[in-house]
Amino acid sequence: MTDQSKHEQTLDPENWDEFQDLAHKVVDDLVGYLKTVGDRPVWTPLPEEAKELFAEPLPSKGSKESEVYESVKNHILPYPTNNIHPRFWSWVGGTGTPSQLIADMVISAMNSGSLGLDETASTYVELQLLSWLKTLLSYPQDANGLLVSGGSMANLVGLAVARTHAAGYDIRDEGINLNDNARLMFYTSVETHSCIRKAIELLGLGSKSLKLIPINDDYTVNLDLLQNAIDKDRKNGRIPACIIANVGTVNTGAIDPLIKLSEIAKKENIWLHADGAFGAIAKFAQKSHHLVDGLELADSIAFDLHKWMYIQYDCGCVLIRGNHPHKETFSVIPPYIKNFERGLASGPINFSEYGVQLSRSFKALRAWMALKIEGSDKYSAQIEQNIDQAKYLTQLVEAHNDLELLAPTSLNIVNFRYTNPSVKDEQLNDLNTEILMRLHESGNSAPSSALLNGNFSLRVAICNHRSQRSDFDELVRDVTMIGNNLLN
Ligand SMILES: Cc1ncc(COP(=O)(O)O)c(C=O)c1O
Repeated sequence: MTDQSKHEQTLDPENWDEFQDLAHKVVDDLVGYLKTVGDRPVWTPLPEEAKELFAEPLPSKGSKESEVYESVKNHILPYPTNNIHPRFWSWVGGTGTPSQLIADMVISAMNSGSLGLDETASTYVELQLLSWLKTLLSYPQDANGLLVSGGSMANLVGLAVARTHAAGYDIRDEGINLNDNARLMFYTSVETHSCIRKAIELLGLGSKSLKLIPINDDYTVNLDLLQNAIDKDRKNGRIPACIIANVGTVNTGAIDPLIKLSEIAKKENIWLHADGAFGAIAKFAQKSHHLVDGLELADSIAFDLHKWMYIQYDCGCVLIRGNHPHKETFSVIPPYIKNFERGLASGPINFSEYGVQLSRSFKALRAWMALKIEGSDKYSAQIEQNIDQAKYLTQLVEAHNDLELLAPTSLNIVNFRYTNPSVKDEQLNDLNTEILMRLHESGNSAPSSALLNGNFSLRVAICNHRSQRSDFDELVRDVTMIGNNLLN
């Protein structure tokens, strides 16, 4: 060792043995944390003392790993969103599974940038996972696939390819050029997720290119109005480019009629993109897979693994048919990420040619390990169980005099509210808002909300492998009890 290298620093632990002891302790703590999650409140408000930690200035000098971990254990771990709790049903929160804790340690230790051009095991894990996902969704094996951060990014990628496909000019080179070209039009229902509008705007199309079509009573897109909109745009010289099917709307879980949409898309010669953020996963439900028949006909599918596939955050996926201009939309290969015939950089694919990101975490390992540990049969049964639970809660609501179902239950989302003849219609929104906040404050359960036809709804989205039927009994009991107390 030269004199100089003695003075060179590293960020490795000063004492590896101490570090190893701490790592063992952390694993023990975290396994305990997962095992006992149902014993704790769903939501615990963050005390001021914990917030003080987050007001501390940037530390110029470090602290021991064990001291920093103590801070995490005392001030961070106890105050989670807690989507891992059996009675968490907010937004479209997924639970993850304990086995992925092991995957996360491996991912962190390997710290792979997952470029794909590296000839490494991580590249092949990701390719194999993509192949399994295509199998699970009955999508062609020659489709391209990419793991991304989540549904928003997956939709952005899918719609970018649709844009390339529909533009009759080199849109990458020229950008959106409305002086010389007609406006490209994208169609979806008013129930579509906000990320679709963001994607359209980010793609430079402008939200005027997104036509929101009214819905039927069951919250699915109205096909006649969709056809009218396409016809009208064509007549006015615009270019219908893409229909975006909602495969499980965020508010109610409604599934647009996929086979009919694919017929319209085919007849009109336009792209069919499916936003199946969570609903696509119904494709591998044991019995209910027919609910999403036709998903496999879409030109592109965006879906999340971190929602209803119980994969830890974050992980989304986009699949695009093999003959479509996926690579043409994203590929830029400067010499510094060139592929070689042999050696480290001789991997089979450059994932950056299929999306926005270059470096990505080795998130594929979580889902790969989860599928190997659970097997697809158990997955199919688990997803079916959530659909059954949504039906069960729907029955409880329908059977209760003080509860009212606010939307048909299409999949795994139930919308309802507390009502009582003594309450005027215009007071119901405030009353149910108060019920929701008190539910959260009670720590017993965490639904979220939706506004349906102006009515405030308690919205229960079930992407949770820890929920049991008794949890829904408890929810109904709590909602009616809080409602009754408020009225008295
Ligand atoms: C239907 C739908 N699409 C897209 C998204 C966005 O997904 P992500 O939060 O993973 O970006 C969501 C999120 O809830 C969703 O429900």
